[in-house]
This record gives sequence, C-alpha cells and structure tokens, in this order.
Amino acid sequence: MNNLPVAVFDSGLGGLTVLRALRGQLPHEDFFYFADTRYLPYGDRPEAFLKARGVLIAEALARRGAKALVIACNTATAAAAEAIRAAVDLPVVAMEPGVKPAAALSQCGKIAVLATTRTVESPRFQRLLEQHARHVDVLVQACPGLAEAIESHGPESAEVADLLQRFITPIADAGVDVVALGCTHYPWVAEAIARHLPSGVQLLDTGEAVARQLSRLLVASQLHGGGEGQVTLATSGAPHAVRVTVDRLWGHDSGLHLPIEYWEP
Ligand code: DGL
Repeated sequence: MNNLPVAVFDSGLGGLTVLRALRGQLPHEDFFYFADTRYLPYGDRPEAFLKARGVLIAEALARRGAKALVIACNTATAAAAEAIRAAVDLPVVAMEPGVKPAAALSQCGKIAVLATTRTVESPRFQRLLEQHARHVDVLVQACPGLAEAIESHGPESAEVADLLQRFITPIADAGVDVVALGCTHYPWVAEAIARHLPSGVQLLDTGEAVARQLSRLLVASQLHGGGEGQVTLATSGAPHAVRVTVDRLWGHDSGLHLPIEYWEP
C-alpha cells in the first residue's frame, strides 16, 4: 500500500499549483495527477453533475491504485467532497478558499475571495464565511471564464488581462488587504493579479496547507514514504494539447517534461 501513488485531480491544470506544493513537501511520494480536461471548466457546471463526476473519478482512481486522494479543486470540493469521502475507502484531502487564514491575516478587516461561480454559490462556501469571516467584510468575486482562459490562452494573454481588469478592479477599489485565491488555477496568474492591486495586498492560496494536511494524514495512517517522487500526468482530453499547456504553465525548467497519458475514469 505504501508504494502506491497519491492520486490528485482537478478539472484541468489548476491542480498543478497544488502538485507543486505536494512534491515540495513530500519528495518521497509518487503522484498520479488526473486533469479532467474534457469537462473543463467545472466552475459553470451544475452541482449534480460535479457530484456524480467527482465520485466517478474518485472510485476509478481508487480502483487504479492510490493510497490517498487529493481533490486539488475548490469547485469539485464544494460540490462533491462529502460524496467522495463516503464513496472511497481512502484518506481524502479536499480544499477550500483560504477564508480563515485571510480573515486572520487582515489588518484592515476587509478581504476578498476570488473563486468560480459554482464555488461561491455553494452552501459549503456560505458555511465557511459564517464560521470564519463574521468579523470581517468579505468581497466575494466570482470569476467566470478565468480558469478556462488561463489554460486556453496562457497567463500573460490579452484574454486573461481583460478578465482580470474586470474582476480585480472592484477589489482594488474596495481597499482590501488580503485576497484569497479560491481556485487552484488562479496562482498561475498571481503576478498579473498583483499588478492590478495596490502594493502590500497579500495573495493567499492554500496549496501549501493542503500539502501539510496530506503529510499529517499519511503519517497518521502509516502510509507515508515508499515512493521516489515520480509523477504521472493523465487527462481525459487530448494529451498533445495538454502537453503544450503544461509546458506553458509549468515551464521546461521544472525537470518534469512528463509524458501525458489519456485516461478515462
Ligand atoms: N481549479 C478549479 C478550482 O479550484 C476549477 C476551475 C474550473 O474548472 O472552473 O475551483
């Protein structure tokens, strides 16, 4: 069991920002990363679809062989985390926007959260706000189209710049001092987001916290170690197209010029 990989999935390549943190903190684990590219973006899809798809993927990953599962997607977590935990007999790490650390960090009592439409409309996100952000003002900004534009056109594209202009300007004007990046795609455009904001505004993503949580869970279940830092990338889309996007996002200097498999859950 210890020799099995940790399975990680996202709608696409946003979860690679989480995989980066996982590999950094857990160099003696192997990872199987699945990008559900055929159904990208998750952010505009109905909750029932995301729940069924999330369970299907989790069950298929468990059958393939995994010692733990990371849902490297805030949208899939919001819709499907509970159903996935009920469906598979594996330690599961899910992720949600960093509302709690953002509220704790804010000096001025005003924070913003960027996430997909489906995430911000979910009951799970509403609960998160009620539990951890009652004492601060929260500007919630859904960013429809942003994850898809990052993958299709690249972080420095005119399409992304237009969307950031639209979504970030109200945040810049509102005087927040912390912005939670509540979608795993958004760290790919953190520099561009920062350029739209006054200097000193902090951007928070939860990749490192997810890696710490996975590490705790693996140790507690005595499943840690046993790998060599191997990564397998798989997609439900077209591997050659995903290859181009991975290289654009991750760069050739990552030491990870990985073959990409087609995989159907
Ligand atoms: N990366 C995903 C998230 O963390 C979803 C992006 C999308 O497919 O809309 O929410």
